[in-house]
Amino acid sequence: MVRERTFSIIKPDAVKQAHIGAIYHQIESAGLRIVAAKMLHLSKAQAEGFYGEHEGKPFYDALIEFMTQGPIMVQVLEGENAIEVYRNLMGATDPSQAEAGTLRANYGSGMPANATHGSDSAEAVSREIAFFFSDDEIIG
Ligand code: PPS
Repeated sequence: MVRERTFSIIKPDAVKQAHIGAIYHQIESAGLRIVAAKMLHLSKAQAEGFYGEHEGKPFYDALIEFMTQGPIMVQVLEGENAIEVYRNLMGATDPSQAEAGTLRANYGSGMPANATHGSDSAEAVSREIAFFFSDDEIIG
């Protein structure tokens, strides 16, 4: 078992529908600690920077438009195998394919409104946490 960090976003659809508390409850119930968090409204430039690896893909413009349409919550999660635990908690990318009880099945409504984002690798965790947080904003 590896104690590690992962990075999470509660997307504009879930924030707008007041699901932050319910999602935090599921995260904490899964054994993950929230060690940093903030609410922000992404600019187009910020969204393009964060999702830069997907530029040129068919869904890219819709993703940027969606992620800038309202406030989001970003957080750093910590726990045993946090990357895998949180990805399992989110479920499949498309809410219609996500297993019952997962965050995307519970709170997503389709694509791009799939409620949450989570890092998919240790490399992504480092890049994504550094995109939003300085070291002194994360509780050790
Ligand atoms: S890929 O091509 O396999 O890397 O794509 P994938 O990992 O499935 O998704 C990358 C991010 O793009 C989002 N996505 C979409 N947004 C809008 N519309 C459509 N159709 C769409 N398909 C994928 C997907 O949710 C991923 O973003 P995050 O923030 O990680 O959920």
